[in-house]
Amino acid sequence: MDPTLKDLHAWLLREHSGTVCADRLRVIADELASLTARGLPGAVVELGSYKGAMALWIRGVLDSLGEQAREIHVYDSFQGMPAPGAEDSDHLAAGELLSSPDDVRATHATWGKPAPVIRPGWFEETLLKALPDEITFAYLDGDFFASTLTGLTHCVPRLVPTGVLLVDDYADTATNPRAWDGLPGVKRACDAYFGTPSPVTAVVGEGDLAYGRYEKPRALR
Ligand SMILES: C[S@@+](CC[C@H](N)C(=O)[O-])C[C@H]1O[C@@H](n2cnc3c(N)ncnc32)[C@H](O)[C@@H]1O
Repeated sequence: MDPTLKDLHAWLLREHSGTVCADRLRVIADELASLTARGLPGAVVELGSYKGAMALWIRGVLDSLGEQAREIHVYDSFQGMPAPGAEDSDHLAAGELLSSPDDVRATHATWGKPAPVIRPGWFEETLLKALPDEITFAYLDGDFFASTLTGLTHCVPRLVPTGVLLVDDYADTATNPRAWDGLPGVKRACDAYFGTPSPVTAVVGEGDLAYGRYEKPRALR
């Protein structure tokens, strides 16, 4: 790992341990390295950016790969979480995880990095009108059933062939009993969108990582 990235890694684990962990950072860095090595076109999008910690990691990794021109677009209500629905747990309530576009800018400024394109508003509105036409990597971190389903509905059709979508908090405990299962609406939304058998695979980490991975088949657009 290049020294700047190593420092950023340590800082994120120290200052943003609520949303970031070593497993997440490693899996995302590996995906970005693979996508860029394959020369895939398209932007990176993050649905649910909170204070911009993971967006900053994505920027840092892309820059270390010589991908300074690759755009990152982040989406967040910046009003915190919506109300949970019937498919969700009570782990998070409406209004929790409140942040602002300035938080995202400040997180990036700390490391002298350009801020991503910031799209404030509910996914249900912003994704309709402000999603890049081509997406190489989508990171869905909206925590709830409806937020995840909306993200999948808009992002999957725009993923380039062999592009990758990672879903945070996707707990497939049958495959990975260690996965943290506090937000069951996330996997339910994936199952509702893709049906079963699902093309989403569980990514297993060293700890309680709960990640789902979808790779767009070559033949589908
Ligand atoms: C866990 S946080 C994201 C953390 C961030 N990805 C990171 O790793 O640093 C979840 C975010 O999703 C946002 N969110 C959830 N559902 C949303 C929706 N339907 N529309 C807009 N934002 C939403 C919340 O405001 C919150 O900031």
